Amino acid sequence: MKLKTKSLTLILLGILGLAFGPTLTLAGEKEKDQKQIERGKYLVDFGGCHDCHTPKLFTAQGPHPDMSKALSGHPDSVKVPDLPDGVLGPNKWGAVASNNQTAWQGPWGVSFAANLTPDDKTGIGSWTETQFVKSMRTGKHFGEGRNILPPMPWFSLAILTDEDLNAIFQYLKSLKPIENKVPQPIPPKM
Ligand code: HEC
Repeated sequence: MKLKTKSLTLILLGILGLAFGPTLTLAGEKEKDQKQIERGKYLVDFGGCHDCHTPKLFTAQGPHPDMSKALSGHPDSVKVPDLPDGVLGPNKWGAVASNNQTAWQGPWGVSFAANLTPDDKTGIGSWTETQFVKSMRTGKHFGEGRNILPPMPWFSLAILTDEDLNAIFQYLKSLKPIENKVPQPIPPKM
């Protein structure tokens, strides 16, 4: 009799385990994903990504990231004016930035900060994690294309662990997608 109760209890526990085990594992994974996203936000906020990838509001304290457009890159609607000749050069200015600090002109021409929101067509929506990690480690677009232009500090991101780069990517993927087609870089005049 005693043995019967014991095995019945064991069977019951087994059934309970089968029923709730997967749910518990799923909940654990969700919590892990959430932790990764929070870590990514921490790294992005501290890592200065908004300095160049978020358009600005002009406040009494100077330009401040406009978080309603967070990380959407150089605004398509803002055309950058031509720079007068003779501004850039050795012993002159090394680079100049647009008002939003999303477009930069230097000896490399004009570069425009990318849209880092997960919009499929204009942002990182179609990027894979492998492409993101590889591009930050190699300084090449998608990890194998053209050189990523200054002033994108990819070399500072290259020292992060895979886990931290993954956290940044997961956070970017969790953002509200913003449709904003960032222009292609303009090569130097020569
Ligand atoms: C000083 C300005 C600046 C800062 C700070 C900056 N970026 Fe960039 N970023 C740029 C510019 C400009 C480009 C476009 C470069 C180009 O077209 O080659 C770019 C491009 C990128 C790209 C696209 C790379 C590719 O393969 O095409 C990614 C991803 C990116 N930045 C992520 C980040 C992240 C994440 C941070 C913060 C940790 C950050 N950036 C901080 C200026 C900056």
